[in-house]
Amino acid sequence: MNSHKPLITIAIDGYSSSGKSSMARQLAKNIGYRYIDSGAMYRAVALYAMRHGMILPDMSVDTNAIIEALPNIHIDFAVNGSSQTTLLNGEDVESDIRTMAVSECVSPVAAIPAVRHALVAMQQRMGVEKGIVMDGRDIGTTVFPDAEMKVFVTASPQTRAQRRVAELIEKGVAASFEEVLSNVINRDHIDETRSESPLRRADDAHLLDNSTMSIESQNQWLLDVYNNTIGHL
Ligand code: DC
Repeated sequence: MNSHKPLITIAIDGYSSSGKSSMARQLAKNIGYRYIDSGAMYRAVALYAMRHGMILPDMSVDTNAIIEALPNIHIDFAVNGSSQTTLLNGEDVESDIRTMAVSECVSPVAAIPAVRHALVAMQQRMGVEKGIVMDGRDIGTTVFPDAEMKVFVTASPQTRAQRRVAELIEKGVAASFEEVLSNVINRDHIDETRSESPLRRADDAHLLDNSTMSIESQNQWLLDVYNNTIGHL
């Protein structure tokens, strides 16, 4: 555990389905830190919008309605054994936020500046005491620009789509590779080109392309970066 080590903030950003959440969760477990999946928060807002008719049939979003609803959207996390559950206004929505329907409308919701301001403020409050691993798209650039450790994870779109299909099949959700690949590429594009804190690697982030790495070697790589960071404080 970390009783004799300084507590730091760890920001892990990267592309969708790059495996960053699994890596981040495992690192947090290894070093006894709190883990926050910031993507789950954007997904929860998108789910709320979907349920309240704010996503139009052509998948465009009713931006004004979402902004007006923000004060009514409360997101929390409950720790459930070794897993984390996302709560939307007290309801466990962990599996609902992982559906393709939510994946398809989350990027435009996450591109709304007012949504980002509200969630970034929440994320910063969660991190005030440090000892946190947070993963997302803008954690090292916007949420915690002073994080002691930053990592940017990437992998080819094909590798990421394959991983996503395997995850969905494991959950019993039918998915075609082509559909998932086009969703991955489309989300990358929206995430990289939005005006408000677009997805980009922070200058001081360690880069990891895990296209051909095993889960074990990724976890070890991350632990080595952590130990190295701590060793240099
Ligand atoms: O990591 P994920 O696929 O669960 O993220 C869902 C969406 O939320 C994705 O389109 C990018 C967006 N997101 C974001 O804009 N900023 C974050 N910090 C985390 C996620």
